[in-house]
Amino acid sequence: MKSWIFCGMVGLAMLSGAQDTVKLPAPQKDGGMPLMQALANRKTGREFSSKELPQQTLSSLLWAACGINRADGRRTAPTGINCQDTDVYVVLPSGAYRYDHKAHALVLCTAGDHRELIAYRQAFPRQAGATLVFVQDHGKTFGGSDVNKARFGGIHTGAIMQNVYLFCASEGLVCVAREQLDRPKLAQVLKLSENQKTVLSTTVGYPQGK
Ligand SMILES: Cc1cc2nc3c(=O)[nH]c(=O)nc-3n(C[C@H](O)[C@H](O)[C@H](O)COP(=O)(O)O)c2cc1C
Repeated sequence: MKSWIFCGMVGLAMLSGAQDTVKLPAPQKDGGMPLMQALANRKTGREFSSKELPQQTLSSLLWAACGINRADGRRTAPTGINCQDTDVYVVLPSGAYRYDHKAHALVLCTAGDHRELIAYRQAFPRQAGATLVFVQDHGKTFGGSDVNKARFGGIHTGAIMQNVYLFCASEGLVCVAREQLDRPKLAQVLKLSENQKTVLSTTVGYPQGK
């Protein structure tokens, strides 16, 4: 028990120190709320406390969003012909990271607190624990024209977003999908290539008073 607590503290210290790669603990795949109850509780909220997400919660959240759930590398959210073109980035108080789903780890993009940039025209994301950003790589997308690729990106992102909403409903977390983003500045912080397009974000945190 003591060593478990120690490992958790070391993990959190690593995140606050913005290490280049942070290996996440294994996601908790048992427990949680029955699906029908989570669906009944799914909703958008915009009132967050400033409490950060523990590493275990972050791990389970990212896995639920778009982690690998089968031996062949397929993931919790489907993509057309399994092109896996959409990835999750996460903006934490310590920095902006890419979720490496194969290693189940966070890879640092840019250190520092970028929640002001994430908030853009809305105040509440400034104090929320985490914002997940869904980024589609057009170079990986199945589908010919740019219009078709963008259509696939919206569908793939929608599936990931709903996974996040249901996880939050199950865990008693607050979350809100957010389309209002400063995409050019965010692309710099996340170090995106020309092919990578930011589709949507979802801000996640604890309810006020918790
Ligand atoms: C694609 C999409 C974009 C959204 N963008 C924003 C946003 O930029 N800011 C915001 O406060 N809420 C945003 N929302 C949340 C919606 O306002 C919210 O889902 C809607 O009011 C329905 O409420 P519900 O999620 O509780 O059913 C967005 C939702 C979706 C699905």
